[in-house]
Amino acid sequence: MEAPFFQLRTGARAPAVGFGSGTFTSAEEIKGAVLSAIKLGYRHFDTATAYGTETAIGEALAIAFDAGLVTREEVFLTTKLRSDDHAPQDVLPALKKSLSALRVDFVDLFLMHAPIKLTKGARFPPKEHEILPLDIPGTWKAMEDRFDEGLAKAIGVSNFSSKKLGDLLEYARIPPAANQVELHPIWQQKKLRDFCRAHDVQVFAWSPLGGLGKVWGSKSVLEDPVVLELAAKHHKSPAQIVLRWLTQIGVGAVVKSYNPQRLRENIQSFDFDLLPEDLETIESTVPQRRLAAWEWLCNSTTSPYKTVQELWDDEI
Ligand SMILES: NC(=O)c1ccc[n+]([C@@H]2O[C@H](COP(=O)([O-])OP(=O)(O)OC[C@H]3O[C@@H](n4cnc5c(N)ncnc54)[C@H](OP(=O)(O)O)[C@@H]3O)[C@@H](O)[C@H]2O)c1
Repeated sequence: MEAPFFQLRTGARAPAVGFGSGTFTSAEEIKGAVLSAIKLGYRHFDTATAYGTETAIGEALAIAFDAGLVTREEVFLTTKLRSDDHAPQDVLPALKKSLSALRVDFVDLFLMHAPIKLTKGARFPPKEHEILPLDIPGTWKAMEDRFDEGLAKAIGVSNFSSKKLGDLLEYARIPPAANQVELHPIWQQKKLRDFCRAHDVQVFAWSPLGGLGKVWGSKSVLEDPVVLELAAKHHKSPAQIVLRWLTQIGVGAVVKSYNPQRLRENIQSFDFDLLPEDLETIESTVPQRRLAAWEWLCNSTTSPYKTVQELWDDEI
């Protein structure tokens, strides 16, 4: 069954569940997973220059297009601007490099990966001397120009708090279409979701299952007692409960699996509905905790953020 869609402010339709590729294993494994995903009905692919997975995804998509499995128009493709490409003059070359690796003429969504600017070649987690003064308006303007050129059909942000998004909405000529953030039953981001809904910014959840395999990864999402109880009640897996919950509250999910069984399980999470009381139980009883605080982006010398409270504008 095909995943439902969310309509972006541009009119584009983004499938509610996307294939996450934030983990580099081997090009062959990723290509195989992308092709399996396409055959299972995935039409939304999430990558980023920082992940090192654009080339493998581009190769797999080229195979799928050539084989007639899917057309470019049917695929919703997201990539992200690395934090060391924030200088306005770097945005076009960075996007062109992504397009070339992905073997496409445009991406459907181009996100500013994080509200942090780094020196060239710096990787996450950056060292103190690699963090540079931030100029989000300058970077955003360069992203708006890529939208005008048609290289990005929609532009958006990632890891923005309500405050940072509000500031951006004040001066943006082209408002962000999306904000991709950590979001799952144990970090529900209610305030941010309400803010985004009010301003027509589509929210996408990263690490929707708790990000196992990442440094912040935790079993606590898939082993949360409420999630387990609902899984038993609806005869679904914990992952299916989480993904269905996200769709029902209007949040898209990019979920990573390179395993065919789990890819199938994750895309087949739309043939049932959580009841209003199930949604209420998740919202009112699951204790809240941000898994990825990213304290390594904060310091009292080079960073625009002295503390994690400043980084997330108290949404922590
Ligand atoms: N914008 C950002 O800053 C940002 C940050 C982090 C992530 N992301 C994006 O979000 C995507 C997803 O996040 P994530 O990779 O951190 O975490 P995730 O999707 O929450 O979790 C991935 C982990 O869960 C396992 N898994 C997948 N399906 C499962 C299922 N049905 N049952 C049990 N385990 C399952 C995967 O293992 P197998 O592969 O073995 O199935 C993998 O270990 C990333 O790939 C990336 O595209 C964006």
